[in-house]
Amino acid sequence: TYVIALPCVDLMDKACVDECPIDCIYEGDRMLYIQPDECTECGACEPVCPVEAIYYEDDLPAEFSVFTAVNAEFFATVGSPSSAVRP
Ligand code: F3S
Ligand code: F3S
Repeated sequence: TYVIALPCVDLMDKACVDECPIDCIYEGDRMLYIQPDECTECGACEPVCPVEAIYYEDDLPAEFSVFTAVNAEFFATVGSPSSAVRP
């Protein structure tokens, strides 16, 4: 999967949303997230982000490595909003 990382936070340019052919990029309160089970790894989103927030998961810089889980966990929250518990 591709992963959206820290540079997206509070910026949310959304150029990536228009590029994703399967619409698997979703908006949260402070950033956007890629649904890892839906992403086809086509790569279309990565070059259009003006702040280079999007990486293929294996290419994530070490300081952004937590965002693989951050993106995945967002959808666990969305899937069961009534039982969501935030740390
Ligand atoms: Fe965020 Fe870049 Fe998309 S800032 S919304 S990942 S184009
Ligand atoms: Fe979508 Fe392709 Fe990116 S499926 S999330 S545009 S890698």
